[in-house]
Amino acid sequence: MALTVLKVGGSLSSEPKKLRCLMARLAEIAKTHRLVVVPGGGDFADTVRRLDKQFTLDRHVSHRMAILAMDQYGLLLSDLSTGSVVVRQFDQALAACDSGNLAIFLPSRFMFEEDPLENSWAVTSDSIALCIALRLGAERVLFVTDVDGVYTANPKNEKNAQLLKEVSIEALADLKMRTSIDSVVPRLLKKWPIECVVVNGFYSERVERLLDGTDAVSTLISAGKP
Ligand SMILES: Nc1ncnc2c1ncn2[C@@H]1O[C@H](COP(=O)(O)OP(=O)(O)OP(=O)(O)O)[C@@H](O)[C@H]1O
Ligand SMILES: [Mg+2]
Repeated sequence: MALTVLKVGGSLSSEPKKLRCLMARLAEIAKTHRLVVVPGGGDFADTVRRLDKQFTLDRHVSHRMAILAMDQYGLLLSDLSTGSVVVRQFDQALAACDSGNLAIFLPSRFMFEEDPLENSWAVTSDSIALCIALRLGAERVLFVTDVDGVYTANPKNEKNAQLLKEVSIEALADLKMRTSIDSVVPRLLKKWPIECVVVNGFYSERVERLLDGTDAVSTLISAGKP
């Protein structure tokens, strides 16, 4: 059965009830689908960003502190989903999925041991989730965040921003602005093609539809040209 990595964004913690509902739903869906959650950094990573500005930390140190922020959010997520299993190794994640449990992957052990990505703020939990998905042999990655997908502009500031149903890796890399996905992801996808979809986690039914292979409001990051 296909394995899906869900990067559950820290942005979702702004709506505790909806995040609880999403995590409970995922634990339920994991009984019949192989699902591994990779946590975002959220408020914990923002604290590291602030401390980095205050202390001008060594980039290797702030990188590791930001990874530990993901571990912290992962533990928070585990508390919202009975039936989830916290894992730190790939074989544990696969075993949890095969037993019908939702695996929540804390990335610090793998990232500290192997250090596979550049140590900079350009790398966020999005790139790390992609890296983990590749190592797990996942079929696709759902970037679960607090907006409906990738827009032509930040939808929170620009009311005319248009939701893109599909965006190519090239177009995503060309978007000069910040989007909901970090700027290293398109570069990694060129080397390691894997299906990626951006979806709004405040609507757990959309996530469920995508997992069932049905269409839902979202953005597909495609390998094709435009
Ligand atoms: N072009 C864009 N399309 C979509 N979202 C955008 C765009 N530009 C900026 N954003 C912002 O990106 C935010 C989502 O990304 P953000 O990194 O803040 O959250 P996350 O990835 O869910 O959480 P975390 O990074 O903490 O794990 C949205 O709330 C939106 O305001
Ligand atoms: Mg993010």
